[in-house]
Amino acid sequence: MLTVEAAVRILRSGGLVAFPTETVYGLGADASDARAVGAVFAAKGRPANHPLIVHMASATQLTDWAADIPDGAWRLAERFWPGPLTLVLRRRAPVLSVITGGQDTVAVRVPRHAVAQALLAAFGGGLVGPSANRFGRVSPTTAAHVRDEFGAYLPVLDGGPCPVGIESTIVDLSGDGACLLRPGVITAAQLQDVLRAPLETGRGGRPRVPGDQTVHYAPQTPVRLLDLPMLSAEAQRRLAQGERVAVLAGPGTHLPVGCIQVVMPADSSGWARELYAALRHLDGAHCQCILVEMPPAAPEWQGVFDRLTRASAPPPGGR
Ligand code: TXA
Ligand code: MG
Repeated sequence: MLTVEAAVRILRSGGLVAFPTETVYGLGADASDARAVGAVFAAKGRPANHPLIVHMASATQLTDWAADIPDGAWRLAERFWPGPLTLVLRRRAPVLSVITGGQDTVAVRVPRHAVAQALLAAFGGGLVGPSANRFGRVSPTTAAHVRDEFGAYLPVLDGGPCPVGIESTIVDLSGDGACLLRPGVITAAQLQDVLRAPLETGRGGRPRVPGDQTVHYAPQTPVRLLDLPMLSAEAQRRLAQGERVAVLAGPGTHLPVGCIQVVMPADSSGWARELYAALRHLDGAHCQCILVEMPPAAPEWQGVFDRLTRASAPPPGGR
């Protein structure tokens, strides 16, 4: 099994290592090595204009990467780091342009996972860490998922299943005010409490987030998001046509006999934790579609709702 020490040696020599965080597994490379960062883009098949997050062991390293850091950013760091929050700030000049997609901002995060913490502390510097999946696919939440994406040649630090399960909340503090770029398990209300200011959610003229594309976090099987009564009727209709039907729904759901079902937990954190593994599992079940129960319209469900909406968006040009 790969050790933290061996991972650090690989990273220092310009190699890539996948590592666990509390959200999803990241594809790590030395953030000060342009060739290593280039290799991350190549391995993922990610377009060059999609910027990466720099991960660091502690908020004390923030000033190595960001400039003009507003008070609100320090307060968020104090409250939520280490944890599933990413801050977009004005970049310091030496930050590699390949990381920022040529923008004048940089995304930074201090993960909480003990293995990520050990790796970053031993490495000392910053690590870029996009989710360790090929571009546009479902993020990995176990070491086995990473191997499914990249095969055996990529070294993986195995830290078990990720406890949060969906990617970090991203807040942009690089301009006037604060803007939520990607919802996660930290809610807008929690962020506003700490910021003591409103949080924008639109992002006209704001930096790009690949999650904005119509399809992202998407399994290969078409996903449909439906309220329970509709879902049940749709499952029935498809089964009657001889289709194989996969269903992702909460506990105690009465579905027509014959559905291939993953029973999800009742609460939003349980859904977040298990969502990507469930989508991967059902994607492998050779069904014509995956029917997913619409989550409640409550703030704590926003991150899960966002990922499900993206997973169910029709691809450009149709399936
Ligand atoms: O939870 C996470 O954030 C995981 C774990 C591994 O840390 N990482 C992750 O990375 O989700 P990635 O690359 O899959 O998503 C990073 C997001 C992208 O949507 C990217 O566009 C956005 O962060 N981002 C990075 N730099 C940015 C910037 N300067 N301005 C706006 N968005 C930025
Ligand atoms: Mg990603």
